[in-house]
Amino acid sequence: MKKVREKNEYEGNPVGLSKETATAMAKELDRHLASFIVLYHQYHKHHWLVEGPQFRDLHLFFEDHYNEIHMQYDTIAERLTVMGYCPTCHPANQLKIAYLEHEEEGEFRIREMLEKDMEDEKTIAVELRKSIKKAFEMEDFATKSLLEGILLKTEDRCHHIEHFLGEDGLSIGLIAKPGDIMSEDGEAEESKAKSKKKAKA
Ligand SMILES: [Fe+2]
Repeated sequence: MKKVREKNEYEGNPVGLSKETATAMAKELDRHLASFIVLYHQYHKHHWLVEGPQFRDLHLFFEDHYNEIHMQYDTIAERLTVMGYCPTCHPANQLKIAYLEHEEEGEFRIREMLEKDMEDEKTIAVELRKSIKKAFEMEDFATKSLLEGILLKTEDRCHHIEHFLGEDGLSIGLIAKPGDIMSEDGEAEESKAKSKKKAKA
């Protein structure tokens, strides 16, 4: 196959953005693209591995999230091509520029998986704000507007995960806190700590 263009070769753009703006904003978009793909894989993992009484809700919740993220990074990549640049497409190269890290292989408690998703969504929100500021300063208003829409949805996802992590539940009143989880000898960790305190007093 004969390459018609190198990855970082600027093609120009038909929308009147300067090369300086296009280059700077394409770089921003590329790192968001790579990071969104990391989170896309993570949501798939959680969709496949979730178990327990809330299986169906969470299974579908993760599916909604990876579908939304897929649509978002598609628009990011397409905007990058408007700029006159090629998006980073190889997974190994995406990993080099992503600001998110892939979750380790293996299964974790669902609460920990949700916490990792929430943390990653928060990181995305923080990084998006930086790019929005840059887009505004460089007068790339379309990219600013695109990223603002994506930021709003990202904050929604983050907020909805926070609700899943809430401790209150209608079915049993109050869901066990991590400290209430039984240890191997059958005693709750929290009551163990309390009886130790009493014994000391
Ligand atoms: Fe599925």
